[in-house]
Parts: sequence; C-alpha cells; structure tokens
Amino acid sequence: MAGNAVGLGNFLRFPTLAAQNGGGAFLIPYLVSFVLMGIPLLWVEWAIGRHGGQFGHHSAPGMFDRLGGARWLKYVGVFGLFTNLAVAAYYCYIESWTLAYVWHSIAGTFRSADPAAFRAQFLGIHAGSLVAAPGEALFWFLLTLGLNVWILSRGLVRGIELVAKIGMPLLLVFGAVLAIRGLTLSPGRDPGVVASPLAGLDFVWRPQLSGLASPTTWLAAAGQISFTLSVGMGSIHCYAAYVRRDQDIALNAASSGWLNEFVEVVLGGSIVIPIATAFLGLEGVRALAGGVDSYSLGFVTAPSLFAAMGWFAPVAGALWFGLLFFAGITSSLAMGQPVMAFLEDELGVRRSRAALVFGAATLGLGLVCVFFYGSGAFGEFDYWTGTFALVVFALLEAIVFSAIFGIDRGWEEITRGADMRVPRLFRFVIRFVTPAFIAVIFVGSLVQPAGEWGVAARSLASGHGWPLAPDSVIGRVLHVGATAGGRSPLVQDFTRLLLLALFAGCAFLVWLAWRRKRAELP
Ligand code: TRP
Repeated sequence: MAGNAVGLGNFLRFPTLAAQNGGGAFLIPYLVSFVLMGIPLLWVEWAIGRHGGQFGHHSAPGMFDRLGGARWLKYVGVFGLFTNLAVAAYYCYIESWTLAYVWHSIAGTFRSADPAAFRAQFLGIHAGSLVAAPGEALFWFLLTLGLNVWILSRGLVRGIELVAKIGMPLLLVFGAVLAIRGLTLSPGRDPGVVASPLAGLDFVWRPQLSGLASPTTWLAAAGQISFTLSVGMGSIHCYAAYVRRDQDIALNAASSGWLNEFVEVVLGGSIVIPIATAFLGLEGVRALAGGVDSYSLGFVTAPSLFAAMGWFAPVAGALWFGLLFFAGITSSLAMGQPVMAFLEDELGVRRSRAALVFGAATLGLGLVCVFFYGSGAFGEFDYWTGTFALVVFALLEAIVFSAIFGIDRGWEEITRGADMRVPRLFRFVIRFVTPAFIAVIFVGSLVQPAGEWGVAARSLASGHGWPLAPDSVIGRVLHVGATAGGRSPLVQDFTRLLLLALFAGCAFLVWLAWRRKRAELP
C-alpha cells in the first residue's frame, strides 16, 4: 500500500504545487484536507475493498455491486477501471523518462547538454508541430511497459510485493542521501551556491495562515491529497481486497497514509526545493515554479543543478532518477492490478493474458500521449483522469458508502479486527464532513474564476458576469481564453472523446461480465 501511494506525486507534484502556492501557505489547507478527506477516504476504500474481497471481487465494479441491491451500483465501479487505465497510460510515460534519465546521468549527458534542450529532443517536440517525433523516448516507454507487464504477470507475491520490498527501502535510502547532501550545501564552501538550502525548508514548512482564505489553494491542496494517497481510483480497494475478513484495516490504512505524508512532506520537501534554493536563491525558486508544469522541476531544473555538483553530479542524478523510478513503478503496478483483477475475476481471463491486455491498452493510450505530448493530449490525460475523475469517484463512493451501504455497517466494517481505536468522531466525519468537503471542492473546480474569488463575486453582482478561469472544468470544456503555447483545441477535444470512449468501453465490459454471470446461473 505504501508503494502504491508513494509515487511521482510525492517528489515532483508536491514540491511544485507547494512552491506555486506560497510554500507554507499551502501546507495548512493540505494537512486539513489530509485529515478531513484523505484519511477518511482511505478507511472507506479499505473497507469497501476488504468487504468485496470476501465475495471474490478484487476490482471496483464487483465491490460496488455488493454494497447494495441496486443494479446501477456496479457502474459506479467503472471509474475504478477507467481511471487506472488512463492514468497508467501517461504515468508510465513519465516513469519511462526516469529510467532513461538514470542512464543519461551516469553517461554524463547533462554535463554537456542543456537539460531543457535535451528534454525537447528526447520527447521529439518541435515548436509549431502537432505531432511529436520521439525516437529515444519511445524505446524507453516500450521498455518500461514491458517491465510492468512482466512483473504483473508474475502474480502478487512474486511480482508487486517483491518489487515493493526492494524498491521502497532503496527509495528511502536514495532520498535520505540526496536530502543530506542538499541540506549541507553551503554558500561559502560549495562553488555556485548562493543561498542557504535551509531557506528553502523554511519556505515550504513555515505555516502561513494566508493560504486558508484562498479557494484556489484549497483546490490544489485537496487535489494533491487525493492524488498522492491514490484515493478515488479503485487501486486502494483492489489491494485491500486481499486482506482477510478479520484482519486489521484501520491501523494499516492510517499508517500507510501517514507514511506517504512523511515521504511527501519531509523527504519530498527536503530535496528539490532546498537544492534549488541553494543554487538559485528563494526568488529564483518562486520565479521558476510560477511558469512550469509539474515535471520540469524534476527533469530540467534538477539535472541542471546537479551538474554544478562536480564529481557528485552523476551520483546525484542516478539517485534522484532512480528514486523516481522506484516511486513510479510501485505505483504503476498498483494501477495495473485492479484492471487485471477485473479481467480475471469477472471475465475469466488467465493472469498472464490479463497482464498482456493491460499492457496493450496502456500502450495504445500511452502512444496518444507520446505523439501528441506537446499539442495537449498528455495534459488532457493528466487533468481529466489524474485530477477530475478522482474527485468524481471519491464523491460517489463517499455517498454510496454512508448512505447506501449505511454508516452503521460501514463503521463496523472499518473497525472490525482493528489494531487501533478509531476515534468515534470519524464516524461523523465520514458520514457528513468528507462528502460535503469533496462536494465543495468539486463545485469549486467547476466554476473556478480567473483571479480572486472575491473579485469574481463582485463582477457577478455588478452584472459583468463570472470570469471563468481557463483551467476550471467548464472553462476547459468551452476552451475559454487563449490556448497555451503549442496546445491544439482539436487535439484536446479528440483526447476528451477518446477518454469518453474508454469510459464507455469499460462500462460495456462490466455490462458484458454481469450478463454472462446471469446466463451461467442455474
Ligand atoms: N499516488 C501516486 C503518486 O503519488 C499516484 C497515483 C494516483 C496512483 N492514483 C493512483 C498510484 C492509483 C497508483 C494507483 O504518484
């Protein structure tokens, strides 16, 4: 479960979001979201998973089918297939860069090449062209997918569990070495260092109340909590389905959640930002975070900073990208397992074949991200599946769990066999606070305004309309505002249709599986 949660989000997405949202100002909404939404959802998902597992279901459609009598419930579980597949497609692409960058760090490529130019060439993107022409990136993508399929086909214990047992400790060691090296950089002693890296820690960690009043910060914080804990995807449910009926889930859910937060806030916060602060100064870090996507801090800034570290440069690069690789692969495997489990449990597909089907689907979808990377497909995948769908599924499951399954049964399910006393307050939180919290986040993301919420409200009141942000849900659908550099509305719309078709395809498979089951009944 920790391998599932600890991923690229902890080391790439978190530091970027924290820097963009004012460092310590981000932290309070983030921690409140963890307690009011993250932890409760973990308990809900573990409970739904272990409950479904008792009936032989290890993927969301079957689990939701067992939560109540209504036929439509199993279709809520379609999210638990769709999101995993679609996220895996672009996630495995990023994961493949990390492997490639380990190689290039050791080979010394970043000593001679400018990382930004290297990245454009690696991804095969040229300004003004819709379609990318990746040579090398494609090779690493295929290799990474092959590796995932091979590990998945070996089964849970000899596959996922083994990789997690090796990868997770190594990741912690690599992270600790990098954090120590970064935090001991000193302006007087190390060439190129202009500021104390501790100023970076201070920036991320000193709590600032200002963030509390910004809905935009809340949206970003709650979104990051869902992503980093892997909730709202059907993946936690799947792993939990392998837990026995009377085995603890309460303490395990809480401890894997807290472990993820340790790795994210303590380790993830102690690497890129302090190192960047040392070399660029705090103002440099702020300026940098303003204009970047979540991935340039890790793939462009980090290698260029490492290059200044002399003999340590190749080591730092190998540790950093190696850490990202382990973080990534233990998460992408967690996206594959629910899809495989669905094929095996509900459609009777053999394990090795199920792994191949997952690989083929991820390859097909992933190639869209690879070839239309710059023109918008990648960004659409990231947003609609890695952000939007999570919130929708989380909202639905929170409601289904407390209203349809029922909070009494639900609470019994969470606490049965528990190795900790779950504070009774959480019964109330799960029932009312978490669904309301997610609903507010959801509506907020639909109509997020360009600029301040207060200014937008005054504009509306004075009859000038609501200034929709281009990155609000409605704003995106309507293509409000200028399209960001290189993106094509055509490619974006095509990608959205593709994702809708994928969702419909998953729903069709669920329909088919249940029709067959009914036909088999005596
Ligand atoms: N939690 C992972 C990370 O921090 C990413 C992730 C989101 C994920 N949803 C998931 C991983 C579902 C596995 C399954 O990078």
